Amino acid sequence: MDGPQHTVPPDCVSAADYERHAQARLPADVWAYIAGAGADGLTQRWNREAFDGVRLAGRVLADMKAASTESTLFGRELPVPILIAPVAHQKLVHSDGELAAVLGASAVSAWMTVSTLSSVRLEEIAQASQTTLWFQLYMQTTREATLSLVRRAEAAGYAAIVVTVDAPVNGVRNTEQRAGFRLPAHVRPVNIEGVQGPVLRAGPGESPVFKGLLDHAPTWADVEWLCSETTLPVLIKGIVHPDDAERAIACGVDGIVVSNHGGRTLDTLPSSLDALEAVARRVAGRVPLLLDGGIRRGTDVLKALALGANAVMVGQPILHALAVAGPVGVIHLLTILRAEFEAAMALTGCARVGDITQSVVWEMR
Ligand code: FNR
Ligand code: LAC
Repeated sequence: MDGPQHTVPPDCVSAADYERHAQARLPADVWAYIAGAGADGLTQRWNREAFDGVRLAGRVLADMKAASTESTLFGRELPVPILIAPVAHQKLVHSDGELAAVLGASAVSAWMTVSTLSSVRLEEIAQASQTTLWFQLYMQTTREATLSLVRRAEAAGYAAIVVTVDAPVNGVRNTEQRAGFRLPAHVRPVNIEGVQGPVLRAGPGESPVFKGLLDHAPTWADVEWLCSETTLPVLIKGIVHPDDAERAIACGVDGIVVSNHGGRTLDTLPSSLDALEAVARRVAGRVPLLLDGGIRRGTDVLKALALGANAVMVGQPILHALAVAGPVGVIHLLTILRAEFEAAMALTGCARVGDITQSVVWEMR
């Protein structure tokens, strides 16, 4: 992480360029943590392949005079349907961590989701913010500790709670293990300091996962409880199965983030785009859907919206941009994605976000 973190290298013109530059700058173990997919990285690869496999039905000469990327989500005007995904430990890549990210997001009015595991306190991030913030909740081992996080997020002005349910245990993170990644002392999950984590009670030869780690893992009853406790919209993040989407709606969630955690948890889950199609068919518009996992181009955003998403989230690219050029990098990356998305709308004849339907997808024989 040497050198100024506010200069954009001249050949940095896409998310992939930020990824390349970030890899060259970051220590190998930090890189391994960020990039590290679960196990063999198949889901992470499929996330990309699914987007790459969709062809677009280009359309010409549409009237774009009133064109706009605006839409509404939970009663608020969403300027661009590209949000920052919750990503833990941002001080790993920039000395100001989440404060650098929120500065960048605010400059371009991009909505940002703050992780329970942020390395800056959620209140401090909110104070520095001039954009809409959501709070990503990892349920804690007691409802009291969980509720305290929710109340803090409410008091700090967060506009929604995003409860992540797909990572009660870590994935098999071999890349990270091989690199010997450990969280350095200056990067701490400050929001939950002092909160009791799971107590490992496995004896010799017993399973640490089933005897300890999962004792207090949340269940559907906790999601229902959460929805009844807060007046903020609650989104559930980490859904791939249509039956789970149905169950979540029955519990009272206001939105669903279709996600395989960027391929970081259970390897060989379907790609986020494949999961989206299945979930969208079942949900049939009852609640807004977001997708994350593998978004690297404006065309990916268009494809996700065409296949049922109301908006998308980006994870890794934000860290890459932060590592390369701090807040300026985040501004630049989000501007690139927006410009690419606008070009994709224009070249498929979609003047409004609502015009982006399945018809922009080229039907393959
Ligand atoms: C994540 N993700 C994540 N999700 C979450 O709900 N809470 C968290 O604290 C984290 N932390 C985290 C750290 C790092 C380093 C990464 C890369 C990801 C998952 C994230 O929100 C999102 O689902 C994926 O990153 C989306 O895939 P892409 O955009 O990275 O391909
Ligand atoms: C991860 C956890 C923090 O994906 O959600 O690394």
